[in-house]
Amino acid sequence: MKIAIGSDHAAYDMKQFIIQHLEDRGIEVMDVGTNSAERTHYPIYGQRVGKAVANGEADLGITICGTGIGIGISAGKVKGIRAAIVSDTYSARMARQHNNANVLSFGARVVGPGLAQDIVDSFLDHEFEGDRHAIRVKMIADIDEGKDITEIP
Ligand code: RB5
Repeated sequence: MKIAIGSDHAAYDMKQFIIQHLEDRGIEVMDVGTNSAERTHYPIYGQRVGKAVANGEADLGITICGTGIGIGISAGKVKGIRAAIVSDTYSARMARQHNNANVLSFGARVVGPGLAQDIVDSFLDHEFEGDRHAIRVKMIADIDEGKDITEIP
């Protein structure tokens, strides 16, 4: 498994901590920056992670900023990306099982390192359940294609 990970300055230290955790788990990491705590702009890294996942360079992505919101919104603007902004392990698990989220986003100013690590593990260690959820995820893809979601399939 290969994970693309990106953050802004507010979450640089957290990104490095999570990269170490992923490497300790034997997971290949694609670090798209930022590379220091110098002030920058989160959409750059959200888009980079989103593109890496959407074009198949990475299997899943992780985005981190102060809240996880701005960078998660940015990643989710890339076609094909389902970014889940979470701050608990239950939501991280459900994001995979029900929503087939392919990018996990959280805030370095919201969760501490211990919880962040558990959130990452909860996301990575669960699979999409498909079935009735697949219909809904397909509807999300239809929104990506500009289609109106008007009927229950
Ligand atoms: C940076 O100060 C902060 O706005 C950013 O990290 C993030 O929280 C935005 O959503």
